Amino acid sequence: MKIAALLVAAGKGERAGGGIPKQFQMIGGKALVRHAVESLARHDAISGVFVVIGEGQADWLAGSLGDQPVARIVTGGAERQDSVRAGLAAIDAAGGYTHVLIHDAARPFVPIAVIDRLRDALATHAAAVPVLPVVDTLARGTDVLGDTVDRSALQRIQTPQAFALDAIMAAHAQWNGAPATDDAQIARAAGHDVVLVAGDSALEKITHAQNFAAAEARLAAARTVRSAMGFDVHRLETGPALWLGGVEIAHHQGLAGHSDADVALHALTDALLGTIGAGDIGSHFPPSDAQWRGAASHRFVEHARDLIAAQGGVIDHVDVTIICEAPKIGPYREAIRAAIAAMLRIAPTHVSVKATTTERLGFAGRGEGIAAQAIATVRV
Ligand code: CTP
Ligand code: MG
Repeated sequence: MKIAALLVAAGKGERAGGGIPKQFQMIGGKALVRHAVESLARHDAISGVFVVIGEGQADWLAGSLGDQPVARIVTGGAERQDSVRAGLAAIDAAGGYTHVLIHDAARPFVPIAVIDRLRDALATHAAAVPVLPVVDTLARGTDVLGDTVDRSALQRIQTPQAFALDAIMAAHAQWNGAPATDDAQIARAAGHDVVLVAGDSALEKITHAQNFAAAEARLAAARTVRSAMGFDVHRLETGPALWLGGVEIAHHQGLAGHSDADVALHALTDALLGTIGAGDIGSHFPPSDAQWRGAASHRFVEHARDLIAAQGGVIDHVDVTIICEAPKIGPYREAIRAAIAAMLRIAPTHVSVKATTTERLGFAGRGEGIAAQAIATVRV
């Protein structure tokens, strides 16, 4: 069994509104379509993700995907079923695929367990769909209430919908052309038994503007808190300006280093990188690279901030301790807080800056250098 994922993202998203089609709008700092691609691609049963977009949507998709690879990008059609047919043809042309999971980009979160259930169903059937039971009372009627409908025999149908590739291609070729909102009805019309597996509320489709808030809340609830530390030391010498926490400080000596040697921002950068396991400052900005000579260290902090944001993370709090005998940090504390808050785009109340001496002990006590420690707390 070799399974392709077919992600249809060629709609106009008219009901959701917003400046751009819903599949390219963001939740948790990432476009819907990227969430969907990632949650399909991470399952090891899926060998390739084929994405179908509309005419003129290529730039939006490129902006949404970033560095996330996909097997192929295909141009879709006016109706959803036209987009599906275009995607199926591309999967067939790629060769080697036996099965396909057809999924709406408007359903950004695909639980691994649902893909497991669909794959298991494909072992015995040519078609399977995830469903949820109807929990509300259902009735006919437009203005005045009509008859109640027995909900126990009804299902809410979700995607991804799973098919043997040849079966669903033949079913689409036979379809009468009437608008179809999913592929299971097309498979059924061709005579296939469509097996029902348990769906998941995480698969709820984004249809209207208000659905974005619920999806955002779902993502926020799934975030975990992480804290990480950073530490750095630079030597004091006569000559360079002294930069600490992004603020230039009046002192008869400055810190030596390849960049501006802002020891506080270097410790902070390492703490931020640590929260997402993204290595350390030296792995992003090697001292051997001439372009960082004399660089202002706020660039390192901002890079770490952007890496966290790219993962949908939120910086909750940072705390920096500067360890030196002189100069006195107190008069600069609020300026440093404000500078770091601006770099991280968070409120100064979420930034703490402290200083201590080492009672004239050790290298800091002898005034040979300045050390800094930082801790960052993020939700990611
Ligand atoms: N879709 C598609 N090609 C179309 C129409 C829809 O690929 N011609 C995709 C959508 O991008 C979406 C999925 O099919 O991922 C489900 O469709 P729907 O929720 O109706 O999205 P839109 O058609 O974009 O929204 P609307 O109907 O509100 O305009
Ligand atoms: Mg539609």
